[in-house]
Amino acid sequence: MHATAIAPANIALVKYWGKRDRALNLPAAGSISVTLGGLETRTSLRFDDDLEEDRVTLNGAMDAGTTVRVRRFLQFVRERFDVAFHAHVETENSFPTGAGLASSASGFAALALAVDKALGLDLPPAALSALARHGSGSAARSLVDGFAEMHPGTREDGEDAYATQLAAPDALPLSVVAAITTTAPKTMSSSEGMEHCRKTSPYHAAWIGQVAIDLEAMRTAIAAADLGAVGEIAEHNAMCMHADMLAARPPVRYWNAGTVTVLDHVAELRTSGTDAWCTIDAGPQVKVL
Ligand code: DP6
Repeated sequence: MHATAIAPANIALVKYWGKRDRALNLPAAGSISVTLGGLETRTSLRFDDDLEEDRVTLNGAMDAGTTVRVRRFLQFVRERFDVAFHAHVETENSFPTGAGLASSASGFAALALAVDKALGLDLPPAALSALARHGSGSAARSLVDGFAEMHPGTREDGEDAYATQLAAPDALPLSVVAAITTTAPKTMSSSEGMEHCRKTSPYHAAWIGQVAIDLEAMRTAIAAADLGAVGEIAEHNAMCMHADMLAARPPVRYWNAGTVTVLDHVAELRTSGTDAWCTIDAGPQVKVL
């Protein structure tokens, strides 16, 4: 009834930004990511029949937001797998939490793995990815090595919404540099931001339409190992997602002045002949491909 698991972060090259079902955490469209070495979460889980509620620590301290999300996930696990106990969860990130570096992706991927081990479930990869998705949509992709594609699925129960491998880690000579522009916690969670965009942004439907076009182009670019095309599509896709955010009412603006400065530097690098492209998640950090 106890286990420790480690999972890496990932960065989306074609972003997930919108849900078709909030309760089951089902994405409205697919997404493509690359799993990152060096940024990871280590989670220890112990089910305990003496506990009356789940106890959660993040980097050694209590964190209210993380506790709520982990408890919701463990409640789902108890109902799905008929478990009577609450759990101690200790989770450590090797990178800043909550600032757009995908800590919920590595976090819920590690927690899903720890649940699988602790309960001896031995779930097949697709079911494990779907389980992680219940914690966080992007977590479904962190269980895949290399390049992952998330399938939005069509089933109402969401069991066909999971990630599979699109290409091996060495398919492209790609490195990712994360430029940290602030370590302050972000202003709005991804879940809230997506829902707000769905309800208020006149660009949201266009964004979902663009994802279908970019998924197709990105699959082709990765299969051809065309780094230039991968970078260009990824940067354009991220800008389209942020355009959706900026068009919401009130706008969702994760960028700060440092974010724009990094974008300028990367544009200059490119002009001077260096292959470099930017992508930005629901936060102010810039990841340079
Ligand atoms: C902008 O996976 O954090 O990073 O499913 O609500 O937990 P929830 O959202 P989350 O959203 C990630 C959004 C993104 C893009 C991406 O990683 O695809």
